[in-house]
Amino acid sequence: MARWLAAPTRRPVRGIFAPSIAQPLGKIGHFSALLRELANTGICVPEIGFGTWNYSGGVEPLRAAIECGACLIDTAEAYGTEEIVGKAIKGQRDRVFLATKVLPRNFKQRDLIAAAERSLRRLGTDHIDLYQLHWPNLTIPIEEPMRGMEKLVDEGKVRFIGVSNFSVRDLINAQAVLAKQRIVANQVRYSLVERTIEGGLLQYCQKNGITVIAYSPLATGLGNIRAADPEGVLRKVAEAACKSKAQVALNWCISRENVIAIPKASTVAHVMEDVGASGWKLQLELARLLEERMRYRRRGPFEIGARRAVRWGMQMIGHCQ
Ligand SMILES: NC(=O)c1ccc[n+]([C@@H]2O[C@H](COP(=O)([O-])OP(=O)(O)OC[C@H]3O[C@@H](n4cnc5c(N)ncnc54)[C@H](OP(=O)(O)O)[C@@H]3O)[C@@H](O)[C@H]2O)c1
Repeated sequence: MARWLAAPTRRPVRGIFAPSIAQPLGKIGHFSALLRELANTGICVPEIGFGTWNYSGGVEPLRAAIECGACLIDTAEAYGTEEIVGKAIKGQRDRVFLATKVLPRNFKQRDLIAAAERSLRRLGTDHIDLYQLHWPNLTIPIEEPMRGMEKLVDEGKVRFIGVSNFSVRDLINAQAVLAKQRIVANQVRYSLVERTIEGGLLQYCQKNGITVIAYSPLATGLGNIRAADPEGVLRKVAEAACKSKAQVALNWCISRENVIAIPKASTVAHVMEDVGASGWKLQLELARLLEERMRYRRRGPFEIGARRAVRWGMQMIGHCQ
Protein backbone atom coordinates (compact mmCIF):
# COMPACT_ATOMS: atom_id res chain seq x y z
CA MET A 1 0.00 0.00 0.00
CA ALA A 2 1.27 3.45 -0.87
CA ARG A 3 3.18 5.23 1.90
CA TRP A 4 1.01 8.31 1.88
CA LEU A 5 -1.90 6.20 3.07
CA ALA A 6 -0.24 5.55 6.36
CA ALA A 7 -1.38 8.59 8.30
CA PRO A 8 -5.15 8.91 8.30
CA THR A 9 -6.10 11.97 10.26
CA ARG A 10 -8.86 14.51 10.42
CA ARG A 11 -6.46 17.33 11.19
CA PRO A 12 -3.55 18.79 9.28
CA VAL A 13 -0.35 16.98 10.19
CA ARG A 14 3.28 17.55 9.31
CA GLY A 15 4.27 15.78 6.08
CA ILE A 16 5.03 12.10 6.54
CA PHE A 17 7.90 12.11 4.07
CA ALA A 18 10.31 13.77 6.45
CA PRO A 19 12.95 11.01 6.38
CA SER A 20 13.40 11.31 2.64
CA ILE A 21 13.42 15.09 2.53
CA ALA A 22 16.80 16.76 2.07
CA GLN A 23 18.63 13.67 0.91
CA PRO A 24 18.94 14.24 -2.82
CA LEU A 25 18.28 17.99 -2.66
CA GLY A 26 19.98 18.76 0.65
CA LYS A 27 19.15 22.44 0.83
CA ILE A 28 15.40 21.91 0.83
CA GLY A 29 15.34 20.01 4.11
CA HIS A 30 13.40 22.57 6.13
CA PHE A 31 10.43 22.67 3.77
CA SER A 32 7.56 20.24 3.88
CA ALA A 33 3.93 20.50 2.94
CA LEU A 34 1.31 19.82 5.57
CA LEU A 35 -1.22 17.12 4.85
CA ARG A 36 -4.98 17.35 4.84
CA GLU A 37 -7.64 14.73 4.67
CA LEU A 38 -9.09 14.18 1.22
CA ALA A 39 -12.86 14.51 1.64
CA ASN A 40 -13.77 12.10 4.47
CA THR A 41 -11.66 9.29 3.09
CA GLY A 42 -9.13 8.99 5.91
CA ILE A 43 -6.47 9.56 3.24
CA CYS A 44 -4.09 12.49 3.50
CA VAL A 45 -2.94 14.69 0.67
CA PRO A 46 -0.69 17.77 0.83
CA GLU A 47 -2.39 21.15 1.10
CA ILE A 48 -0.03 22.36 -1.66
CA GLY A 49 0.32 20.13 -4.71
CA PHE A 50 1.44 21.03 -8.22
CA GLY A 51 -0.36 21.38 -11.52
CA THR A 52 1.13 20.83 -14.96
CA TRP A 53 -0.98 22.78 -17.44
CA ASN A 54 1.44 24.68 -19.72
CA TYR A 55 4.23 23.01 -17.81
CA SER A 56 7.66 22.91 -19.41
CA GLY A 57 9.97 22.53 -16.45
CA GLY A 58 11.13 18.95 -16.99
CA VAL A 59 11.36 16.38 -14.21
CA GLU A 60 13.39 18.30 -11.62
CA PRO A 61 10.74 20.71 -10.28
CA LEU A 62 8.23 17.86 -9.97
CA ARG A 63 10.79 15.69 -8.19
CA ALA A 64 11.61 18.58 -5.85
CA ALA A 65 7.91 18.89 -5.07
CA ILE A 66 7.73 15.20 -4.21
CA GLU A 67 10.81 15.53 -2.00
CA CYS A 68 9.03 18.27 -0.07
CA GLY A 69 5.95 16.15 0.48
CA ALA A 70 3.99 18.33 -1.99
CA CYS A 71 3.39 15.05 -3.69
CA LEU A 72 -0.03 15.68 -5.25
CA ILE A 73 0.65 16.09 -8.95
CA ASP A 74 -2.17 17.12 -11.24
CA THR A 75 -2.23 16.58 -14.96
CA ALA A 76 -4.84 15.86 -17.65
CA GLU A 77 -5.09 14.09 -20.96
CA ALA A 78 -5.60 17.56 -22.45
CA TYR A 79 -2.33 19.01 -21.10
CA GLY A 80 0.15 16.85 -22.96
CA THR A 81 2.14 16.52 -19.73
CA GLU A 82 1.22 13.01 -18.60
CA GLU A 83 4.44 11.61 -20.07
CA ILE A 84 6.70 14.06 -18.24
CA VAL A 85 4.79 13.43 -15.02
CA GLY A 86 5.26 9.68 -15.61
CA LYS A 87 8.98 10.26 -16.05
CA ALA A 88 9.21 12.39 -12.89
CA ILE A 89 7.49 9.81 -10.69
CA LYS A 90 9.28 6.80 -12.12
CA GLY A 91 10.71 4.70 -9.30
CA GLN A 92 8.71 6.57 -6.65
CA ARG A 93 5.11 5.99 -7.63
CA ASP A 94 4.14 5.08 -4.08
CA ARG A 95 5.16 8.54 -2.81
CA VAL A 96 2.87 10.38 -5.17
CA PHE A 97 -0.82 11.15 -5.18
CA LEU A 98 -1.48 11.23 -8.91
CA ALA A 99 -4.43 13.15 -10.32
CA THR A 100 -5.40 13.33 -13.96
CA LYS A 101 -8.50 14.20 -15.98
CA VAL A 102 -10.60 12.98 -18.84
CA LEU A 103 -11.96 15.33 -21.49
CA PRO A 104 -15.73 15.78 -21.90
CA ARG A 105 -15.62 14.35 -25.42
CA ASN A 106 -14.61 11.02 -23.84
CA PHE A 107 -17.51 10.82 -21.39
CA LYS A 108 -19.27 7.85 -23.03
CA GLN A 109 -18.54 4.91 -20.74
CA ARG A 110 -16.45 3.02 -23.27
CA ASP A 111 -14.51 6.13 -24.33
CA LEU A 112 -13.80 7.07 -20.72
CA ILE A 113 -12.34 3.66 -19.97
CA ALA A 114 -10.20 3.81 -23.12
CA ALA A 115 -9.04 7.33 -22.17
CA ALA A 116 -8.06 6.10 -18.71
CA GLU A 117 -6.05 3.25 -20.23
CA ARG A 118 -4.19 5.74 -22.44
CA SER A 119 -3.49 7.99 -19.44
CA LEU A 120 -2.21 5.03 -17.44
CA ARG A 121 0.15 4.14 -20.27
CA ARG A 122 1.44 7.70 -20.59
CA LEU A 123 1.87 8.00 -16.84
CA GLY A 124 3.63 4.63 -16.64
CA THR A 125 1.50 3.40 -13.76
CA ASP A 126 -1.22 0.87 -13.06
CA HIS A 127 -3.50 3.21 -11.13
CA ILE A 128 -4.64 6.83 -10.97
CA ASP A 129 -5.29 8.14 -7.47
CA LEU A 130 -7.81 10.77 -8.49
CA TYR A 131 -9.53 10.60 -11.87
CA GLN A 132 -11.47 13.76 -12.65
CA LEU A 133 -14.09 14.73 -15.21
CA HIS A 134 -12.41 17.86 -16.62
CA TRP A 135 -15.56 19.86 -17.40
CA PRO A 136 -19.24 18.98 -17.38
CA ASN A 137 -20.49 17.65 -20.71
CA LEU A 138 -23.99 18.98 -21.19
CA THR A 139 -24.71 16.66 -24.12
CA ILE A 140 -23.87 13.27 -22.58
CA PRO A 141 -25.93 12.01 -19.61
CA ILE A 142 -23.82 12.00 -16.47
CA GLU A 143 -24.64 8.30 -15.92
CA GLU A 144 -22.25 7.44 -18.77
CA PRO A 145 -18.97 8.74 -17.32
CA MET A 146 -19.92 7.83 -13.77
CA ARG A 147 -20.57 4.19 -14.72
CA GLY A 148 -17.18 4.17 -16.39
CA MET A 149 -15.59 5.71 -13.31
CA GLU A 150 -17.10 3.08 -11.00
CA LYS A 151 -15.92 0.31 -13.29
CA LEU A 152 -12.39 1.73 -13.18
CA VAL A 153 -12.56 1.84 -9.37
CA ASP A 154 -13.82 -1.76 -9.27
CA GLU A 155 -10.88 -2.81 -11.43
CA GLY A 156 -8.39 -1.00 -9.18
CA LYS A 157 -7.33 1.39 -11.95
CA VAL A 158 -8.75 4.44 -10.19
CA ARG A 159 -8.79 5.02 -6.43
CA PHE A 160 -11.01 8.10 -6.12
CA ILE A 161 -13.49 9.87 -8.36
CA GLY A 162 -13.24 13.62 -8.79
CA VAL A 163 -14.70 16.31 -11.00
CA SER A 164 -13.60 19.72 -12.17
CA ASN A 165 -15.49 22.91 -12.96
CA PHE A 166 -18.71 21.37 -11.63
CA SER A 167 -21.47 23.57 -10.22
CA VAL A 168 -23.53 22.57 -7.19
CA ARG A 169 -26.22 21.22 -9.51
CA ASP A 170 -23.63 19.23 -11.51
CA LEU A 171 -22.26 17.76 -8.28
CA ILE A 172 -25.68 16.73 -7.02
CA ASN A 173 -26.58 15.10 -10.35
CA ALA A 174 -23.24 13.31 -10.60
CA GLN A 175 -23.34 12.00 -7.05
CA ALA A 176 -26.93 10.81 -7.51
CA VAL A 177 -25.97 8.36 -10.26
CA LEU A 178 -23.01 6.83 -8.43
CA ALA A 179 -23.98 3.48 -6.94
CA LYS A 180 -21.02 2.79 -4.67
CA GLN A 181 -18.55 5.64 -4.77
CA ARG A 182 -18.47 9.25 -3.65
CA ILE A 183 -17.16 12.30 -5.42
CA VAL A 184 -14.21 13.30 -3.27
CA ALA A 185 -13.00 16.47 -4.98
CA ASN A 186 -14.04 19.32 -7.23
CA GLN A 187 -11.16 21.16 -8.96
CA VAL A 188 -12.15 24.77 -9.54
CA ARG A 189 -10.59 28.18 -10.17
CA TYR A 190 -9.92 29.99 -6.92
CA SER A 191 -7.49 32.73 -5.97
CA LEU A 192 -7.29 36.06 -4.16
CA VAL A 193 -8.68 37.75 -7.27
CA GLU A 194 -11.15 35.11 -8.56
CA ARG A 195 -13.62 34.19 -5.85
CA THR A 196 -16.65 33.00 -7.77
CA ILE A 197 -16.88 29.76 -5.76
CA GLU A 198 -17.63 31.77 -2.61
CA GLY A 199 -21.06 32.37 -4.10
CA GLY A 200 -22.23 28.96 -2.84
CA LEU A 201 -20.09 26.21 -4.38
CA LEU A 202 -17.36 26.46 -1.75
CA GLN A 203 -19.91 26.27 1.06
CA TYR A 204 -21.64 23.28 -0.57
CA CYS A 205 -18.35 21.40 -0.88
CA GLN A 206 -17.40 22.21 2.70
CA LYS A 207 -20.77 21.06 4.00
CA ASN A 208 -20.68 17.85 1.99
CA GLY A 209 -17.07 16.93 2.68
CA ILE A 210 -15.88 17.41 -0.91
CA THR A 211 -12.31 18.67 -1.11
CA VAL A 212 -11.91 21.80 -3.20
CA ILE A 213 -8.75 21.73 -5.30
CA ALA A 214 -7.98 25.37 -6.13
CA TYR A 215 -6.59 25.75 -9.63
CA SER A 216 -4.86 28.87 -10.93
CA PRO A 217 -4.31 29.85 -7.26
CA LEU A 218 -1.75 32.43 -8.40
CA ALA A 219 -4.25 33.79 -10.94
CA THR A 220 -2.09 32.17 -13.69
CA GLY A 221 0.71 34.57 -12.74
CA LEU A 222 1.43 37.17 -10.07
CA GLY A 223 1.06 39.93 -12.68
CA ASN A 224 -2.67 39.26 -12.75
CA ILE A 225 -2.87 39.69 -8.99
CA ARG A 226 -0.88 42.93 -9.22
CA ALA A 227 -3.35 44.22 -11.79
CA ALA A 228 -6.15 43.82 -9.25
CA ASP A 229 -4.16 45.31 -6.45
CA PRO A 230 -3.34 48.94 -7.25
CA GLU A 231 -2.66 49.69 -3.57
CA GLY A 232 -0.01 46.95 -3.38
CA VAL A 233 -1.81 45.27 -0.48
CA LEU A 234 -0.35 41.84 -1.25
CA ARG A 235 3.19 43.21 -1.17
CA LYS A 236 2.54 45.01 2.13
CA VAL A 237 1.00 41.92 3.72
CA ALA A 238 3.85 39.74 2.45
CA GLU A 239 6.43 42.12 3.93
CA ALA A 240 4.61 42.23 7.25
CA ALA A 241 4.36 38.44 7.37
CA CYS A 242 7.97 37.94 6.19
CA LYS A 243 6.71 35.75 3.35
CA SER A 244 6.76 36.14 -0.39
CA LYS A 245 3.74 37.36 -2.36
CA ALA A 246 3.22 33.92 -3.89
CA GLN A 247 3.33 32.32 -0.45
CA VAL A 248 0.73 34.73 0.92
CA ALA A 249 -1.54 34.24 -2.11
CA LEU A 250 -1.36 30.45 -1.79
CA ASN A 251 -1.66 30.48 1.98
CA TRP A 252 -4.82 32.57 1.66
CA CYS A 253 -6.39 29.84 -0.54
CA ILE A 254 -5.50 26.96 1.77
CA SER A 255 -6.60 28.89 4.85
CA ARG A 256 -10.14 28.02 3.73
CA GLU A 257 -11.62 24.89 5.25
CA ASN A 258 -11.42 21.92 2.88
CA VAL A 259 -9.33 23.74 0.27
CA ILE A 260 -5.98 22.64 -1.13
CA ALA A 261 -4.13 24.42 -3.95
CA ILE A 262 -2.21 23.29 -7.01
CA PRO A 263 -0.02 26.07 -8.41
CA LYS A 264 2.08 25.42 -11.50
CA ALA A 265 5.77 26.03 -10.99
CA SER A 266 8.37 25.38 -13.68
CA THR A 267 11.48 25.87 -11.60
CA VAL A 268 12.77 24.24 -8.43
CA ALA A 269 13.02 27.71 -6.87
CA HIS A 270 9.33 28.40 -7.47
CA VAL A 271 8.42 24.94 -6.16
CA MET A 272 10.34 25.54 -2.96
CA GLU A 273 8.80 28.95 -2.50
CA ASP A 274 5.29 27.63 -3.10
CA VAL A 275 5.71 24.75 -0.66
CA GLY A 276 6.63 27.42 1.89
CA ALA A 277 3.00 28.57 1.69
CA SER A 278 2.10 25.59 3.83
CA GLY A 279 2.31 25.24 7.57
CA TRP A 280 1.55 28.71 8.93
CA LYS A 281 -1.34 31.11 9.36
CA LEU A 282 -1.62 34.78 8.50
CA GLN A 283 -2.34 37.07 11.43
CA LEU A 284 -5.99 38.01 11.55
CA GLU A 285 -5.48 41.68 10.73
CA LEU A 286 -3.27 40.87 7.73
CA ALA A 287 -5.85 38.39 6.43
CA ARG A 288 -8.48 41.08 6.88
CA LEU A 289 -6.43 43.52 4.80
CA LEU A 290 -6.35 41.03 1.92
CA GLU A 291 -10.07 40.41 2.26
CA GLU A 292 -11.08 44.03 2.39
CA ARG A 293 -8.60 45.92 0.25
CA MET A 294 -7.96 43.71 -2.73
CA ARG A 295 -10.22 43.72 -5.74
CA TYR A 296 -11.60 40.38 -6.77
CA ARG A 297 -14.07 38.95 -9.21
CA ARG A 298 -17.11 36.88 -8.30
CA ARG A 299 -19.20 35.86 -11.28
CA GLY A 300 -22.91 36.22 -10.71
CA PRO A 301 -25.62 33.71 -11.68
CA PHE A 302 -26.30 35.50 -14.98
CA GLU A 303 -22.69 35.31 -16.16
CA ILE A 304 -22.35 31.73 -14.96
CA GLY A 305 -25.55 30.79 -16.81
CA ALA A 306 -24.45 32.58 -19.98
CA ARG A 307 -21.06 30.85 -20.00
CA ARG A 308 -22.77 27.52 -19.45
CA ALA A 309 -25.11 28.16 -22.38
CA VAL A 310 -22.14 28.94 -24.62
CA ARG A 311 -20.41 25.75 -23.51
CA TRP A 312 -23.58 23.74 -24.19
CA GLY A 313 -23.83 25.29 -27.68
CA MET A 314 -20.19 24.47 -28.44
CA GLN A 315 -20.64 20.91 -27.22
CA MET A 316 -23.79 20.49 -29.29
CA ILE A 317 -21.88 21.36 -32.46
CA GLY A 318 -19.10 18.97 -31.56
CA HIS A 319 -16.64 21.42 -30.04
CA CYS A 320 -16.36 19.31 -26.94
CA GLN A 321 -13.10 19.96 -25.15
N1 LIG B 1 -9.29 21.94 -14.09
C1 LIG B 1 -9.11 22.95 -14.89
O1 LIG B 1 -9.96 23.30 -15.73
C2 LIG B 1 -7.84 23.73 -14.78
C3 LIG B 1 -7.69 24.96 -15.43
C4 LIG B 1 -6.49 25.66 -15.27
C5 LIG B 1 -5.49 25.12 -14.45
N2 LIG B 1 -5.66 23.91 -13.84
C6 LIG B 1 -4.61 23.30 -12.99
O2 LIG B 1 -4.11 24.25 -12.07
C7 LIG B 1 -2.70 24.36 -12.19
C8 LIG B 1 -2.23 25.75 -11.80
O3 LIG B 1 -2.93 26.76 -12.45
P1 LIG B 1 -2.28 27.69 -13.57
O4 LIG B 1 -1.15 26.98 -14.18
O5 LIG B 1 -3.41 28.12 -14.42
O6 LIG B 1 -1.81 29.00 -12.83
P2 LIG B 1 -1.14 29.40 -11.43
O7 LIG B 1 -0.62 28.24 -10.71
O8 LIG B 1 -2.11 30.29 -10.78
O9 LIG B 1 0.07 30.31 -11.95
C9 LIG B 1 1.14 29.76 -12.64
C10 LIG B 1 2.13 30.89 -12.88
O10 LIG B 1 2.65 31.32 -11.62
C11 LIG B 1 4.07 31.29 -11.66
N3 LIG B 1 4.61 30.95 -10.35
C12 LIG B 1 4.55 29.79 -9.68
N4 LIG B 1 5.17 29.89 -8.49
C13 LIG B 1 5.64 31.15 -8.41
C14 LIG B 1 6.36 31.87 -7.44
N5 LIG B 1 6.71 31.30 -6.28
N6 LIG B 1 6.68 33.18 -7.69
C15 LIG B 1 6.32 33.78 -8.85
N7 LIG B 1 5.62 33.14 -9.81
C16 LIG B 1 5.27 31.84 -9.59
C17 LIG B 1 4.42 30.26 -12.70
O11 LIG B 1 5.69 30.55 -13.21
P3 LIG B 1 6.71 29.38 -13.64
O12 LIG B 1 5.94 28.44 -14.51
O13 LIG B 1 7.77 30.14 -14.38
O14 LIG B 1 7.23 28.73 -12.40
C18 LIG B 1 3.32 30.45 -13.71
O15 LIG B 1 3.64 31.51 -14.57
C19 LIG B 1 -2.49 24.01 -13.67
O16 LIG B 1 -1.16 23.70 -13.94
C20 LIG B 1 -3.42 22.84 -13.82
O17 LIG B 1 -2.89 21.65 -13.29
C21 LIG B 1 -6.83 23.23 -13.98
